[in-house]
Amino acid sequence: MSEKFTNEEEDSGRDSPDKVVIERKLPLTAIDIESQKDMKARRYHSLRSLHKWFAARPTPASRLSVLGSILPAEVDDDELLKLMQIGPKQLRSGRAEYVERKFSESKGSGGLDDHYGYPNPNTQSPTTAELEQLHELVAEAWGGELPTVLDPTAGRGTIPFEAIRYGIPAKANELNPVASLIMKVALEYAPEVGSLNSEVNDWKEKIHKEAKENIEEYYPTENPDHEILNSAVTYLIECDSCGGDIPLVMKWWLNKTTSGGDAIRPIYESGEVRYEHVKVQNVSEPYDPQDGPVTRGDAECPHCGVVTVSDDVRDKITNNEFQYSVYGVNYEDSSGNWEFRAGSDVDNRGMSKARDRVESDFGIIDFLSTPITTTSQSGEIQRMGMEYWRDICTPRQLVVHYEYLQAFEKYKPEIQEQYGCKKSKAILSLLALASSRALSFNTRLSQWYDEIGCPDKIFTNNNFAVKKMFADNNLSAPRRGYIQRLEQVLESYQDLVSYTEESNAADIAQMDAAQISEKWENDSVDVAVLDPPYYSSIMYAELSDVFYVLQKEYLGDVHSDIFSSKLTNKDDEAVANPSRFNEISGDKKSQAELAKRDYEEKMTSIFEEVNSLLSETGVITVMFTHRDMDAWDTLTTAFIEAGFTISATHPIKTEQSDRVGMQGKASADSSIFLIGRKQETGKNSKSTLWEDIKRDIAEVAGQEARNIIESGYSISKTDMAIAAYGPTLHKFAQEYPVVDKKGEKIRPREALSEAREAVTEVIAETFLNTEGIDSLDTLTRWYVLAWLIYENDTFPYDEGNQLGVAAGVDINEIKRPTKIWGKSRGDIQLKNQDERVQDIVLLKDDSVDNPSSRKYPVDPTDTRFTYTIDAVHSAIHVYEREGARAAWDWLTERNLKSNQAFAVTVTALLEVLPKENGMRETLVNLISGETGEYLDINVDHIDMSGVDRQTSLKDHTE
Ligand SMILES: C[S@@+](CC[C@H](N)C(=O)[O-])C[C@H]1O[C@@H](n2cnc3c(N)ncnc32)[C@H](O)[C@@H]1O
Repeated sequence: MSEKFTNEEEDSGRDSPDKVVIERKLPLTAIDIESQKDMKARRYHSLRSLHKWFAARPTPASRLSVLGSILPAEVDDDELLKLMQIGPKQLRSGRAEYVERKFSESKGSGGLDDHYGYPNPNTQSPTTAELEQLHELVAEAWGGELPTVLDPTAGRGTIPFEAIRYGIPAKANELNPVASLIMKVALEYAPEVGSLNSEVNDWKEKIHKEAKENIEEYYPTENPDHEILNSAVTYLIECDSCGGDIPLVMKWWLNKTTSGGDAIRPIYESGEVRYEHVKVQNVSEPYDPQDGPVTRGDAECPHCGVVTVSDDVRDKITNNEFQYSVYGVNYEDSSGNWEFRAGSDVDNRGMSKARDRVESDFGIIDFLSTPITTTSQSGEIQRMGMEYWRDICTPRQLVVHYEYLQAFEKYKPEIQEQYGCKKSKAILSLLALASSRALSFNTRLSQWYDEIGCPDKIFTNNNFAVKKMFADNNLSAPRRGYIQRLEQVLESYQDLVSYTEESNAADIAQMDAAQISEKWENDSVDVAVLDPPYYSSIMYAELSDVFYVLQKEYLGDVHSDIFSSKLTNKDDEAVANPSRFNEISGDKKSQAELAKRDYEEKMTSIFEEVNSLLSETGVITVMFTHRDMDAWDTLTTAFIEAGFTISATHPIKTEQSDRVGMQGKASADSSIFLIGRKQETGKNSKSTLWEDIKRDIAEVAGQEARNIIESGYSISKTDMAIAAYGPTLHKFAQEYPVVDKKGEKIRPREALSEAREAVTEVIAETFLNTEGIDSLDTLTRWYVLAWLIYENDTFPYDEGNQLGVAAGVDINEIKRPTKIWGKSRGDIQLKNQDERVQDIVLLKDDSVDNPSSRKYPVDPTDTRFTYTIDAVHSAIHVYEREGARAAWDWLTERNLKSNQAFAVTVTALLEVLPKENGMRETLVNLISGETGEYLDINVDHIDMSGVDRQTSLKDHTE
């Protein structure tokens, strides 16, 4: 389904292939399957285990972006997949088919590698023979020399890492210091310094021993054979009514197992609480740990029953009116078993001791004392009274992190003295990364993970959510502490070393990508691969401050270039962040508009810089994921404005999803790869009239949707429109600049909107057997199409809005009068009859108050309805509220038998509503029995298998 376009090459003095592999049709399904395997736990790239970074592309996508952009198009799929290490080594041909076959076969009890018959490609590097062959082939295609690959927004560096792993020269740049450190370790130290196994292990022991001695006193224990690993901690606030202690716990689980697990039973006495450990064999008896005092933020006093509402709970924490309380402990006994016990006074003594230390020790006063700046992400932690980064820790957590830093500082001069400059920096960097990883599991933001009885990391989602039950990780414990974090860092580093034994380091920079021409010369790059920030999805700099402040304490003097600023650089970051414009405008809409413009300008500058570095016939590959059209609109405008044209596009699955082979859910998990070449000078000076290409655009998008469906390529209906954006944008870029009749520039958004409409039509044509949907009123059509495409009542606002355009309705205008949808966390939520139709029983009784008539817009006693969906919702309501007989009367009174729109809507809804949906169940009843006989709706074209249709009215009496 990918498009094939030939690039008319100019004679630039440097040879390059007319067409590269990624500009031709690709074995997408096989690559998608491999990407899905890659994203499963413990299978992904070793670079990801080095340290947290916020965006991760699967290795197959990164490899494809590099290899596909340098290999000449003549290289066939088998050769490409073999180089990507996909498929068994010995297989000579049919690799893509092999992978697809394996995917559809049922898997046995062994692991994925056993099933597929070849090892995880992440662990596989090309053999020397493969490398020689690759280099020969590539060099020949690129005028005798290997091309240089540039990634200007490289994050942790997965793309350039894969380039150097294949012996391809790479340049990598990243703005953010936290990502830059990871990148430096992977792209410079791994290939240049090599193994550091014994060195890091030696220093680890010394640092650990030193820190442990100074930490022990904060982890007192009644049983010295029980080494504390982790503690579950909560806040104790005082009830304003009775003065009793309220622990802010939602559920008392410490560790869940299939047969029950470990939990805490609180004992409330004389206004106080103490804890008892229980082994739960059956959750409902004798005690249900699900039942803590806190529900949806409100805390019910276990002593007097008075509720402290969530705002007051938060105020108490903000104003420091709380105590920390250890309610559960995970420990290791002398035989190495992991057990749980209740928190007790002895644990709280350890916490108090740390508090006294923090209050009295001047040494610790400056540790992590940088103020938290107000950003779009800081709101929640600031509202909890956290002003400085140290406030994300309890005093004990702070002391523990401080003691590890002290131990590191003690040995730093020895390390620097003993090894050469680069090697000592590499060792210190790995040690610091381990401490930074450890921070993640030991803060007030680190959730107690009751599924497995240990701490979770700060960023389970990409935001700072405050946890009322959090984990205290004893870093000095023999396992699950510093040692474990360091071993993970070292193991992943050693993997990277083994993958780059024969490689040269990448040429790396840490700067704003909009200025990289200050670092690298024009024409010094042949291929640019970009995985740019995803518009507004992740606020990298704001989030990474939490690691930055700690890493700067460790490495400020070692990497003074990386850690020169107070906090991470947010001003130059290319993200669409409306909160950055708070001071310029109080209006949310204009903030969003300014943010969009800012992102577009920054991305344009980045693309322009890439353009100037790229050789005349070079290739640029951009991967991008987003559901909002605004994101695509700005990114592609930036791309085209910077002087590129689109030579090919592909949809590729790059986001975590369990549903290869499944349609469903409203989430986008596909990216588009946009492949571009430099625009030929002078070619695009003539404008194209939008009216002249509008139809072609719709045709291209519709055709892409049809191609996808015909090819059997597995992609959700939601993602199909995104997949069609590729060819749409290609066409648009070809015709650029596009103007309307008044000469005003048309933005890509218009073309994408056109594409979405065309794809919706194709989806409706293909997946909806009911005919006549086009004759329905626009609101009803939108409602049916939304269920068809999203298979869910909730979906992103932007998409629903676009679908409204396709269906011919302004969904914002109809929201209030029809209440057909509501907003739920920024998403659209479709409403059913329960939230739209007034209560018919109460309406008929003048003597009672009927609140539903004030709340809901649809009056079921009406005889005519503006929208057919109102009639259908009323019919469902009457059936459910008054039974089948009343429904029969209601239908006949309105002569709905001969109402074609009513029949079309009922059958279409029967088709699109999920099987378990309540509306659908009642509709099935409505078309059955005597109401069914009356309506006489033909449902032969719909799959009603498994549906139990009622046959007579008596089945439905109330
Ligand atoms: C999608 S991520 C890249 C992830 C990367 N492919 C990886 O494997 O880690 C985008 C990156 O762009 C970086 N970035 C944002 N603005 C930048 C700028 N102006 N210059 C350079 N890098 C920037 C972000 O810090 C982020 O790491």
